[in-house]
Amino acid sequence: MTFVVTDNCIKCKYTDCVEVCPVDCFHEGPNFMVIDPDECIDCALCEPECPAEAISSEDDLPPEMAQFLEINAKKAKEWPSITAHKEALPEADKWNGVKDKLQYLEE
Ligand code: SF4
Ligand code: F3S
Repeated sequence: MTFVVTDNCIKCKYTDCVEVCPVDCFHEGPNFMVIDPDECIDCALCEPECPAEAISSEDDLPPEMAQFLEINAKKAKEWPSITAHKEALPEADKWNGVKDKLQYLEE
């Protein structure tokens, strides 16, 4: 199993999640964050930390978020590791809660 970052992180990227991960498995893209499934130890510490409620365990992933499992696995191999909190994206609060943000994902 792994934890997965889903749609509502896009254009928000609050980064609170990276601070608590004991194994540094977060990787950062331009406007999204992903979890490396090969490194995640399923500790669940990150899930309640996300102000956008964008993190879910693989087992609890809603069907409409299923594609994020593959997106996390793929992008984790491409994007650099991030281990420290930084400022959220400038319009994070405006975008928090907006539906279907995958169309805005920057690679
Ligand atoms: Fe890191 Fe634990 Fe979250 Fe996995 S569940 S990404 S190990 S904090
Ligand atoms: Fe994204 Fe939530 Fe982390 S918005 S960067 S998953 S704290």
